[in-house]
Amino acid sequence: MTSPRKCRVAILISGRGSNMASLIAAARAPDYPAEIVLVASNRPEAGGLAAAAQAGIATRALDHKAHASRAAFDAALQLELVAAGIDLVVLAGFMRIFSDGFVEAWAGRMINIHPSLLPLFKGVHTHDQALAAGVRLHGCTVHYVVPELDAGPIIAQAAVPVHPGDDADALAARILVQEHRLYPAALALVAGGQVRLEEGRVTFSADVAGGAGALLSL
Ligand code: GAR
Repeated sequence: MTSPRKCRVAILISGRGSNMASLIAAARAPDYPAEIVLVASNRPEAGGLAAAAQAGIATRALDHKAHASRAAFDAALQLELVAAGIDLVVLAGFMRIFSDGFVEAWAGRMINIHPSLLPLFKGVHTHDQALAAGVRLHGCTVHYVVPELDAGPIIAQAAVPVHPGDDADALAARILVQEHRLYPAALALVAGGQVRLEEGRVTFSADVAGGAGALLSL
């Protein structure tokens, strides 16, 4: 019996790529439904590019500064994604905003991880935002990407406590542990078709609906 075709994934990064590494590691399992076929960065110096190459994955450095406009960068990236036959785009610390046209081209086929419990604390410096707000729970969110920043339908969330005396670095480290667990679990369900975006809402297949533990952590 032939195994089902794996979902072809591109991971986009801008930095060290620790989430990327957790996804690459998860995808090594023979029954993982996604195959990481490309890692691309808008920053040629991103540390994650070397790590991906070392793992035997094709890499592309597309310097956004070398492109005249946001649309020109997005078009160059789109060419790479199409050439690689990508089914699903996974943002992992990709710190660049896309044009609406690019997001719409990947509607329902592009996911992101954000270091807060959305819809709280969109944008950057999420741990400082959480400390300033005085919340006692903070965390991370995997969501579909829509044109509005960090506003897409939510797939998975993990929460961590905020301890007295925490600073932004302590919170970031505590949340990163959860990110590395949550993102591979969420990608598996999206790539396997058990999680979908339908009419702007996330739907879960019957086998996930009752036991979505992997997508929620308190
Ligand atoms: C992660 O904490 C991720 O959630 C965050 O950047 C970090 C990347 O770390 N993403 C965003 O802030 C997106 N707006 P990594 O490069 O080690 O995966």
